[in-house]
Amino acid sequence: MSDFDEKAEEWDTPKSRKRAANIAEAIRSEVPLSNNMSAFEYGCGTGLLSFELRKELGPIMLADNSDGMLEVLEHKIRDASADDMKTVKLNLSSDPPPDQQFDLVYTMMTLHHIPDTRHILTQFYALLNSAGYLCVADLDEEDGSFHGHDVDDVHKGFDRAELADLAEEIGFTDISFSTAYKMEREINEEGETKLFPIFLMVARK
Ligand SMILES: C[S@@+](CC[C@H](N)C(=O)[O-])C[C@H]1O[C@@H](n2cnc3c(N)ncnc32)[C@H](O)[C@@H]1O
Repeated sequence: MSDFDEKAEEWDTPKSRKRAANIAEAIRSEVPLSNNMSAFEYGCGTGLLSFELRKELGPIMLADNSDGMLEVLEHKIRDASADDMKTVKLNLSSDPPPDQQFDLVYTMMTLHHIPDTRHILTQFYALLNSAGYLCVADLDEEDGSFHGHDVDDVHKGFDRAELADLAEEIGFTDISFSTAYKMEREINEEGETKLFPIFLMVARK
């Protein structure tokens, strides 16, 4: 059982919903969403971001590699009769991509968990229709205190300029960044908190 399997039941909190709502708002202000757009969310967790956006989009495929997260998400989809949302268990680091392309690909707080950033961005590029949009929301570069200094299998956020260069090398155009949210998080047992900025990168194929 992965860490995320264990966290799934408790994932939806006022804080995580607020983060998703703010990132959804940032996407809305950068991308002309429409019910004609097909969408793919990667590392969807319990689907918080897609539930924020679904009324403004066409069909959404939601992918994650955690059974626990997908189980919670599937309950939510059933409860909402959200027939426009389909789930898939997928790890794009090792599995073949879905045999389909999308107008919009988005991912929230997942990129830092994927070791090979170039590979995953290349996969996202291939999943997009021509002129499709990629939206990546993730941590700005930080000192490691977000996950704790004993966690060494994650990226400590991203440098915006380096990520933009990488996206450009892969073929993305019209790359822009904004600060979508600032997330407050406890960073030690004394209860000290810190604000972690979350960027939104928008790019086009
Ligand atoms: C920090 S959580 C974010 C969940 C959700 N996007 C949110 O912000 O509420 C990271 C998510 O990415 C998923 N994940 C991590 N590595 C993955 C991989 N290689 N392939 C697919 N999903 C992955 C985890 O299972 C988890 O649901």
